[in-house]
Amino acid sequence: MSRKFFVGGNWKMNGDKKSLGELIETLNGGKVDANVVCGAPSIYLDFTRSKLDAKFGVAAQNCYKVPKGAFTGEISPAMIKDCGVNWVILGHSERRHVFGESDELIGQKTAHALENGLGVIACIGEKLDEREGGITEKVVFAQTKVIADNVKDWSKVVLAYEPVWAIGTGKTASPQQAQEVHEKLRAWLKTNVSEAVANSVRIIYGGSVTGATCKELASQKDVDGFLVGGASLKPEFIEIINAKA
Ligand code: 13P
Repeated sequence: MSRKFFVGGNWKMNGDKKSLGELIETLNGGKVDANVVCGAPSIYLDFTRSKLDAKFGVAAQNCYKVPKGAFTGEISPAMIKDCGVNWVILGHSERRHVFGESDELIGQKTAHALENGLGVIACIGEKLDEREGGITEKVVFAQTKVIADNVKDWSKVVLAYEPVWAIGTGKTASPQQAQEVHEKLRAWLKTNVSEAVANSVRIIYGGSVTGATCKELASQKDVDGFLVGGASLKPEFIEIINAKA
């Protein structure tokens, strides 16, 4: 079964109208042969959606688990959709480890976002001590289980494997390291969800992906795309989008 290559850009808390406007102009002029989604800061979602060509999707970088209410500082899937934005990144390692989000909360957010019609880029990944302790599989399977328990329609979910030790460190996982975990995740999905889901879900890799590393990573059988931080703010992002082309 063919899985369309999927590349997310996670701009994190970077940029302003001027720099993001310039980036958007560059992206709009690029040739794109993949599903591409740009994760903008929430304050710039509307701006990004209004400027970015329709060939690109836009994602929020987080959302809350209920539609509205007294939750100062939060945004809901309903608000995201109201800005014409159809995706959300959930469970990013910075949400887990800087802001202390639990597996349980990420699961609840996943269910609510999907119920409200957003596509979800669900992130998982082990920390360095967990990899060195030989518990990578245990960690990513446990994180995936909480997500899976909250998904009914897998066609709206992309799973992003982002080893925490590779994020923002310039230390990309080797193509073999990425492939090994992706293959195990697919096998987990086959056993615990279904063979059809295992074959169709895109599992993308994130962690210091650059123009220099993207092609070999993209050549791995179970690497169906990328979630890109730093390099998604540069023209180099186009090269990464077309890593498989
Ligand atoms: P970097 O590409 O900057 O390592 O960030 C990866 C990431 O966290 C994408 O979500």
